[in-house]
Amino acid sequence: MSISKTIIVSNRLPIKITLNGSQIGYQNSEGGLATGLGSIYREGDNIWIGWPGAIINDESIQEAITEDLATKSLSPVFLTEEEINKYYEGFSNETLWPLFHYFPSYANYNDEQWCTYKTVNQKFADAVLRVLKTDDQIWVHDYQLMLVPQMIRDKAKNVKIGFFLHIPFPSFEVFRLLPWRKELLNGVVGADLIGFHTFDDSIYFINSCQRILGLPSNSNQLFINDKPIIVDAFPISIDFEKFNTLANDVLQKPHEENIIKRKGKAKLMLSVDRLDYSKGLINRLKAFEKLLEQHPQYIKKVVFVQLVVPSRDTVKQYSELKEQVDKLVSNINSKYSTLDWVPIHYFYRSFSIDLLAALYKTADIALVTPMRDGMNLVSKEFVACKSDETGVLILSEMAGASRELNDAIVINPNDSNKFVKALVQALEMPVDEQRHRMRSMRDIVSRFNIHHWVKLFMNRLEEVKVLQRKLSVR
Ligand code: ADP
Ligand code: G6P
Repeated sequence: MSISKTIIVSNRLPIKITLNGSQIGYQNSEGGLATGLGSIYREGDNIWIGWPGAIINDESIQEAITEDLATKSLSPVFLTEEEINKYYEGFSNETLWPLFHYFPSYANYNDEQWCTYKTVNQKFADAVLRVLKTDDQIWVHDYQLMLVPQMIRDKAKNVKIGFFLHIPFPSFEVFRLLPWRKELLNGVVGADLIGFHTFDDSIYFINSCQRILGLPSNSNQLFINDKPIIVDAFPISIDFEKFNTLANDVLQKPHEENIIKRKGKAKLMLSVDRLDYSKGLINRLKAFEKLLEQHPQYIKKVVFVQLVVPSRDTVKQYSELKEQVDKLVSNINSKYSTLDWVPIHYFYRSFSIDLLAALYKTADIALVTPMRDGMNLVSKEFVACKSDETGVLILSEMAGASRELNDAIVINPNDSNKFVKALVQALEMPVDEQRHRMRSMRDIVSRFNIHHWVKLFMNRLEEVKVLQRKLSVR
């Protein structure tokens, strides 16, 4: 009897390779997906297929990496510089990312990039097919790999395939702008189960499948030649216990004491994001400036710590945004700083998870105000670190997380007046009210954690297959 396995496929592996001459280094990813799927991909013959995060052309180095990674249940797909340029930076991040985040004017429609996207998706599908056995199940992740489900289905008719989109799926009127809309949908519906963060995303997807592919549907089912496939919402989460424990760890104390000493009596506002136009960095900085302008009583009474992690900096819009953020921070600081106070502490780099947890724990207010975000894990990490149940979360209604964390102060980041009011409300919120709100948000994040998310999706994938078998014997 053959033992079935789970194959996970994503653009990035949960590991990053560094090359120093021929010296290979491996850096583990601490991301939520890696933690959540960690319980699956390391078991039995399970495997995670993806790009190892560096361009490696030397075949002997590729072989050495493949051997090393095999011991960790990881299987690398190597990409050339041209592939990274056209598939990753190009079609994935200059076309799909802006369009799906409702920035259609940033989207670039380029045939060559589309062709490379197809070629690279085929490369990932082939990597799956090389290790695939009949009873295996496959879980494909995110917008970089939307063609992979059907590419696998073409060669393996009955295999179980799940697909999860980690970013928003746009409404039909936006999605239809894409010249290759039909091909992309056809790629995704190769899966048996298609997951999104929110109910709205799933409805938009079904709507596009009806209107563009003419697929019949019934509630959350789509029919491909009478075979039902399921489309549903599975809001992703974090490893609550990990962040909660980290925030309570005695080893964290020196970090915390240092931050508390530095902020003095001022309230600490915190934001943590990749440098991305979808994250609303400019609107947030402008709202903070307006707070100081309209409510000068907060001068010296508040400190804004802004952590920004570099991202996709070879893409034009990202490098331009970096310049805008630098300029705005510098303008605000030069206008309001005094000899003993600087309003914005701006860091453009990655922080260790220890320091991040200490900042979450000591922050009075977290500002999570994207223009659009599939879920946003930072909001959940902040809540998980608030074991004393104080602190206020200001959350954009454009983030998937706002559907679950409705005890946050929920704002529209485009409404600058309400944004400033929310900042004042957060700064003045009585501790009892903070506790009441934080307790209920912690309850949600602790129950619906990353392990729950993985289990829910995998169980559902099993159920879809049962449903398909039942309908086919009728
Ligand atoms: P996205 O996936 O779009 O980047 P999320 O908020 O869902 O947005 O996830 C971001 C992840 O990156 C979080 O786990 C967060 O802790 C981490 N992160 C963001 N900025 C930093 C930083 N400066 N240093 C370390 N980790 C960061
Ligand atoms: C988002 C996407 C992921 C991506 C991550 C970091 O969370 O949904 O697929 O891996 O951003 O972006 P990067 O381009 O560095 O992989």
